[in-house]
Amino acid sequence: MVGEAASPAGGGGSGGMSGLEPGVGTAENYRRFARREAAGRSPAYESLALAVADDEAILGFLAGLPAEKRQPNLLFAAARYLLDAVPDVTGLRHLVADRHDRLVKVMLERRTQTNEPARCATILPALWRLPQPLALIEVGASAGFTLLVDRYSYDYDGNMVTGADPQAPILSCHLEGRVPLPGGVPEVIWRQGIDLNPLDPASDDDVRWLERLIWPGEEGRVERLREAVAAARRYPITVRRGDLLDDLAAVVSEAPRDATVVVFHTAVLAYVDADKRAAFADALGGMGVTWLSNEASGVLGWLPTATDSDGFVLVQDGRTVLAETDPHGRWLRWR
Ligand SMILES: C[S@@+](CC[C@H](N)C(=O)[O-])C[C@H]1O[C@@H](n2cnc3c(N)ncnc32)[C@H](O)[C@@H]1O
Repeated sequence: MVGEAASPAGGGGSGGMSGLEPGVGTAENYRRFARREAAGRSPAYESLALAVADDEAILGFLAGLPAEKRQPNLLFAAARYLLDAVPDVTGLRHLVADRHDRLVKVMLERRTQTNEPARCATILPALWRLPQPLALIEVGASAGFTLLVDRYSYDYDGNMVTGADPQAPILSCHLEGRVPLPGGVPEVIWRQGIDLNPLDPASDDDVRWLERLIWPGEEGRVERLREAVAAARRYPITVRRGDLLDDLAAVVSEAPRDATVVVFHTAVLAYVDADKRAAFADALGGMGVTWLSNEASGVLGWLPTATDSDGFVLVQDGRTVLAETDPHGRWLRWR
């Protein structure tokens, strides 16, 4: 299980509520986060979460926050944002005591919005197969780094695909199965993101927050993020504030119709409940667009193939399962 949007809303992972399962107390949620999410991936977060689970002062602090703001990812990122370092439990206890109001402010204002450009490597083969050119609409775009799919270059087990920006990162992805290897990057003539809270790649503060959302022990991701930030500063993209369901039709209506209009999302739908996911699917069905969903297995609950994989599932138009994908874009297993 991964740290961002790995499992359905309210069901662990981070359906907007990473490490928070309904009916489970905060201490137990931190223990589960340590065991299920951080173990094997971030030893620092694993031991910190276990320590928080036994720390009355920090648990008392968390009890004063709205339930959806008590998640480990948010607390730890906020602490690192304020301290510029990964704290141990003593440091965290000091922060809670000495900078209480500031910590509350950051946790209330900020969200877990990790933006992973490497996910582009797993959606590129699906985009490449579509009639070109493309008009891309990404819902839950965060800072918009996955909208730059044509700017990055790709290394698929030594098969190189060259993107439009030679300075943008090269994203490596291991392929399994008969993946239709992209012959190039798609021709994107229009792109637009939607997010409840767009982050601005031009803002050093937002970039600092995005960096703090990357778990300690995953430093390669920080480098990639910085390269994506630089690419986004060279090639600004628009991510408008809005909701993936309520505001989608307006954006679709603005897209050029001489292009294949693609609505896509990665690590987003787990943040909304099952009813809203179903309404989103219904709405897309009537829009005449191509829909690509790259979400944790089980998030598209109506798919019989939503099974036990701990990866994401790449699905076209809500029904056709194309591939299993690594949540951080490191591998792609075509069906
Ligand atoms: C984990 S981030 C993923 C960002 C990006 N798609 C990626 O894969 O790197 C999830 C994003 O979805 C956004 N989000 C959650 N619920 C949303 C909604 N109802 N409407 C629009 N955006 C939403 C969050 O604000 C956050 O930026």
